[in-house]
Amino acid sequence: MVSRGCGDDGVVESCKEPKRVVNAVNKNLGDKPFSQACANNREPIYDVLAKEFAGQTSVLEIGSGTGQHAVHIGPRLPHVQWQTSDLAENIPGINRWINDERVVNVLRPLTINVLKDWPDTELLQYFNGIFSANTSHIMPWEAVEHFIGGLEKMNSGSRLALYGPFKYDGRFTSDSNERFDQWLKNQYPHQGIRDFESVDSLARNSGFNLVKDYAMPANNQLLVWEK
Ligand SMILES: C[S@@+](CC[C@H](N)C(=O)[O-])C[C@H]1O[C@@H](n2cnc3c(N)ncnc32)[C@H](O)[C@@H]1O
Repeated sequence: MVSRGCGDDGVVESCKEPKRVVNAVNKNLGDKPFSQACANNREPIYDVLAKEFAGQTSVLEIGSGTGQHAVHIGPRLPHVQWQTSDLAENIPGINRWINDERVVNVLRPLTINVLKDWPDTELLQYFNGIFSANTSHIMPWEAVEHFIGGLEKMNSGSRLALYGPFKYDGRFTSDSNERFDQWLKNQYPHQGIRDFESVDSLARNSGFNLVKDYAMPANNQLLVWEK
C-alpha cells in the first residue's frame, strides 16, 4: 500500500528509516540513505526559502535526516552558509551526500539532539536562520518545546522555517494527514501531527512572529517566523 511518509505522499517506511538504495535505479545513489519524500519536496521548499531566506547568511538545519535537503537547497542559496545537524546515527549518511555532491557552502553535520545539546547559546549566536523539515511530528512534544524554546537565544532579525504537516484549530488539513497521524501514533505514542497554534505560541515565547504560512504540496505547510 502506498501511504504517506514524512508528511508527504510516499512510502511510510521512508519516514522513520530512510532506505539505503544500492544502485537500484540511479547509479549515483551508491549506498547513501535516500528519502523519496525529500526528493519530491526539496524544490517547492527551495522556492519558498529563496524568498524567505533572502536576507539570511547562516542557517542551522535541525534534523537534516539523509542530508538531501541540505545538498539541494544549500548550493542554490549561495549567500547562505548551511550547517547540517542530526542525531549521531544520521551523521554518516549526511556526510556521504556532502562528499558526493561536492558542495562548498554546506557544512558537515554537527551532532545535535535538541533534548540534550540544546540550546547552545554560543552556537546559536552564529546563526540567523533555522530550518527544520518533518521533525515536529517525529520528536516528542517535549523536544519540540525545548527546540523552539531554545531559539530565545537568537538575535533579532533571525528567521525560523518549519516544514511539515500541522493541524489548525485541532483539525487536520486532509483525511490523509489524519491517517498519517494515526500511523505515527501507532509506531510511537509520542509522535503526532502538532497544532499550529501550539507551535506558534512556542515561537512567540522565543520572540518570533509569524511572517507567512505557505500551503505546500501533499498537505504540508512551510511556516516562517522572524524575530
Ligand atoms: C522524518 S525525519 C526528517 C528528516 C529530514 N529533515 C526530512 O525532511 O527528510 C525526522 C528527523 O528528526 C530527527 N530527530 C528526531 N528527534 C530529534 C532530536 N531530539 N533532536 C534532533 N533531531 C531529531 C531524526 O533523527 C530525523 O532525522
